[in-house]
Amino acid sequence: RPAVLQDGFGRTIDYVRLSVTDRCDFRCVYCMAEDMTFVPRAQVLTLEEMGRLARVLVELGVRRIRLTGGEPLVRRDVAQLVRDIGAISGLSELNLTTNGSRLDRYAAELKAAGLSRINISLDSLNPERFRQLTRTGDLSQVLAGIEAARQAGFARIKLNSVILRGRNHDEVPALVDFALEKGLDISFIEEMPLGQITEHDRGLEFVSSEELRAGLSRRLNLLPLTEKTGGPSRYWKVAGSDSRIGFISPHSQNFCELCNRVRVTAEGRMLLCLGHEHSVDLRAVLRAHPEDDAPLRHAIIGAMAIKPERHDFSLDPGEQLVRFMNMTGG
Ligand code: GTP
Ligand code: 5AD
Ligand code: SF4
Repeated sequence: RPAVLQDGFGRTIDYVRLSVTDRCDFRCVYCMAEDMTFVPRAQVLTLEEMGRLARVLVELGVRRIRLTGGEPLVRRDVAQLVRDIGAISGLSELNLTTNGSRLDRYAAELKAAGLSRINISLDSLNPERFRQLTRTGDLSQVLAGIEAARQAGFARIKLNSVILRGRNHDEVPALVDFALEKGLDISFIEEMPLGQITEHDRGLEFVSSEELRAGLSRRLNLLPLTEKTGGPSRYWKVAGSDSRIGFISPHSQNFCELCNRVRVTAEGRMLLCLGHEHSVDLRAVLRAHPEDDAPLRHAIIGAMAIKPERHDFSLDPGEQLVRFMNMTGG
């Protein structure tokens, strides 16, 4: 019988989001505070430790791994990590989520290294607004990155847009047109309250997926796709095109019942749920037992028992999580 990881609510965990760094060259307003401290390098897993962890996860039944950050491509030698993890037999997909800033440099190399799919964040098509939302980002660089990913031959590239009222909610039609024109998928994300960001009021800027979908339905024929991916996105197909529009609605439509995933932070902490602190320190186990995988397997299997049933996000400024998204692994 093939190995499987099961949590206390009967859910099978076969998907892991592995954060390769908490660092990023952007400072998106909903992700980071202006002033951030990052994890000292010695506390971050080495690429060898990440490769070993990935191999053990696959032995335990994990079938899809997504590399996240921070921004994964600010870490040197990520292509080597992609080669190493991609060579693990039994893994069916190795994907990457990126802000796109370095994709023009790395897209072809990542494709050759065996990466399956790429998701790219894009919150605005207006250069000034893009700069305001990311604080440091350059839109033209990201557009070049998207183009490079297309040229490299990646299939089903997905854009991610976090939509905030008064900042970019009026750009939803333009973002959809851009995705359709380029043959990309796009997901619209309701902001999640990770990290105390005093400069930014999450409640005031909240826009529900339903509002966005209703607006788009006035211009486009959206056909619901019923496939259950285990991921948070609910997808709609645009009639007459190959593109899909997804909505990630942690507030307005909870998806935890079908959850198939856990995260590992750059420090090697396995986080059982985005919205809770339940975690297991895998770095300690990796480093205490460099030659023997049994304790690591044991720790991972044991972690499943403390996976919470669901997140309980609140937009109340007093109830934001302490942990920031860049520490969390997207
Ligand atoms: P797949 O790997 O194909 O499922 O893509 P994805 O959409 O899950 O990944 P991506 O990295 O593009 O993430 C898009 C958004 O979904 C980000 O804001 C993530 O934080 C969010 N997200 C992904 N998984 C979960 C989850 O389990 N719970 C919650 N609340 N949000 C999630
Ligand atoms: N809420 C929702 N999505 C977020 N992301 C970063 N921070 C948040 C947040 N607080 C998104 C990024 C990226 C994806 C990995 O997570 O925009 O697309
Ligand atoms: Fe960087 Fe992504 Fe966070 Fe933006 S959302 S600051 S690109 S980690």
